[in-house]
Formats: sequence, structure tokens, C-alpha cells
Amino acid sequence: MYFWQSLNFMEEITIHGKVFIPYITFEEIEHAIKRIANTIYEEHKNDVPVFIGVLNGVVMFMSDFLKQYPGECEISFLKMTSYEGTESTGKVNLQMDIPMDLTDRHVVILEDIVDTGNTLEALHKVLETKKTKSIKIATLLYKPEAYKKDLKIDLIALTIPDKFVVGYGLDYDGLGRNLPDIYQIKM
Ligand code: IMP
Ligand code: MG
Repeated sequence: MYFWQSLNFMEEITIHGKVFIPYITFEEIEHAIKRIANTIYEEHKNDVPVFIGVLNGVVMFMSDFLKQYPGECEISFLKMTSYEGTESTGKVNLQMDIPMDLTDRHVVILEDIVDTGNTLEALHKVLETKKTKSIKIATLLYKPEAYKKDLKIDLIALTIPDKFVVGYGLDYDGLGRNLPDIYQIKM
């Protein structure tokens, strides 16, 4: 059981019997998000991009990203699922499609984490059917050692090793999403 209100970031936490160690502070995350928000703004200041968040993991990233984005924009969401426990299942399902017309729009997909790339590839296939003007991919976290696809990731906030992480929107079997910082599995 964890109680983040009394959590000291220096402490290990246990979720579903697995131990996680403090890894990336909220301050570091915030700094990295500010950097990509400004980069995206430089590319889109003359249009109104649509930021598409991939639920559920993107909630914290999306909300902090939007607060740092200095221009006009719209938002929408979709939901994909692939993970069970700490392993990617390889089977990606579209659980909720984007409830918005994206014809001729500049779209930026916001992902919490790109691991094997299976989700990203499935996502791209969904977006390709939408007649958008452009599609960019931005991710908070990227695990290059796990990535198996050729699809280009346009914006990466933080690159991390191939170890399971929780917090800041990311879960381990449903728990840990509300931790304000990111924790890494203890091997
Ligand atoms: P992929 O399809 O293997 O790239 O996995 C992408 C999805 O799996 C992400 O959007 C996350 O929801 C989840 N995921 C991948 N790695 C982690 C992790 O380290 N912690 C928590 N969730 C993860
Ligand atoms: Mg996800």
C-alpha cells in the first residue's frame, strides 16, 4: 500500500508486491515537457493543432503539456490497450475511437510511453484513415532498447532504459497512476 501524500521521493514503494525505486522527479518531467511544448509550438504557431491523448496513461502528461503549450489548440482522446502486468501482450485493441472529425487537421499524438512500438503502429493505422493534413508523434517516455518498429517518433521528452516504470499516469496492473513522480522497478 502506498500513500503518496506522506511519500518522501527518496523512499521505495511496493505495488502488487513489486518494489519500485524513485527514478524521475516531477521537476525533471515538467522541464522536459516544457521543452517539447515549445518545440511543437514553433512548428504549429500558424495553425490550430489537435492533440490526441492516448488513454489512460496520458492523463498527467496531457494536462501538464497543455498548460505549457502557448498557442491555440484543440484536444481529443482515444483508448488503446496492450499491456498485462509488466509485459506487452503484442495484441493491441482500439477500445475507444476519436470522437472528432480530423479532416485536414494537423494532428499530434500524445503518448505516455513508447515501448515495443506495437501500440504506436496500431495508432498510426487508425490515424491514417482520418484524412488528416499531418500526423506527428510525441511521447513523454521512450525505451529505445525495446522499440521494434521503423515509425519515426517526432518528439521525445525523456529516454529511459528497458525497465518497467510507474507513476505520473503509468500503472502497474491499474495502480500507481496517481504518483506525481516516476518510479522504476527494482531488479
Ligand atoms: P508498446 O505497445 O509495447 O509500445 O507499449 C505501449 C503501452 O504499454 C504504453 O502506452 C503503456 O500504456 C504501456 N507501457 C509500456 N511500458 C510501460 C512501463 O514501463 N510502465 C507502464 N506501462 C507501460
Ligand atoms: Mg499507453
